[in-house]
Amino acid sequence: MKIIRVKDYQELSRVASQLMIDLLQKKPNATLGLATGSSPIGLYQNLIQSYQRQEISFAEVKTYNLDEYCGLPRSHPESYHNFMHRHLFHHVDIKEENVHVPSAEGNNLQAQCDAYNELLHQATIDLQLLGIGGNGHIGFNEPGTSFKTETFVVRLTDKTREDNKRFFNSLDEVPTHAITMGIHNIMQAKEILLIASGKGKQQAVYELVHGPVTETFPASILQQHSHVTVVVDEEAAALL
Ligand code: F6R
Repeated sequence: MKIIRVKDYQELSRVASQLMIDLLQKKPNATLGLATGSSPIGLYQNLIQSYQRQEISFAEVKTYNLDEYCGLPRSHPESYHNFMHRHLFHHVDIKEENVHVPSAEGNNLQAQCDAYNELLHQATIDLQLLGIGGNGHIGFNEPGTSFKTETFVVRLTDKTREDNKRFFNSLDEVPTHAITMGIHNIMQAKEILLIASGKGKQQAVYELVHGPVTETFPASILQQHSHVTVVVDEEAAALL
């Protein structure tokens, strides 16, 4: 694992986005695995600016997102489909047919998981972007998830729902389930870029880097991936 320590969220967003920009310049038809949440927002802003300066294009880029809430229509402001369009896709020249976010609408969620998993099997993700949950989740693989899992419906832990309450009016509105890429899917990416910022991530970053590899802390599996870069700001790196 390569650890890059930076001062703050702004520098984290700059350094992490530069890694993605370098890839897109080298490989304009790259396949990216993307994440939602607070961590990547600055990175996405930098990608948009780089696109506006005509340094990169998304015309040939394909994307696969990690996860999607169940029970929210795609049009809901907090669906991850909507999040990705608002924070990145609407602002660049990506083709809608090259954008993949799990669909968690309708009654047959297992069929939706199987369909997304099939798409993942056919793709090769060049660079997978990850945030990390305070409880060590990556994607929505909550503690205790088998490292062998592929795309599945997960029941979100109380901690994750509490952490994500900030995006909703109340805890009751936070979905209880999501569809997520499994750990096994994530580990297939050629390269992984994990970003973590702020005090709330201190313990998780410590476990990620120094803890035992255990299913009770899902992100620990990344110690066994051959090409991982972790960009952490001072607050998140405080226990390293
Ligand atoms: C998001 C995702 C999650 C988040 C994690 C951190 O698609 O899969 O694993 O990366 O919950 O979220 P933030 O960045 O909001 O702290």
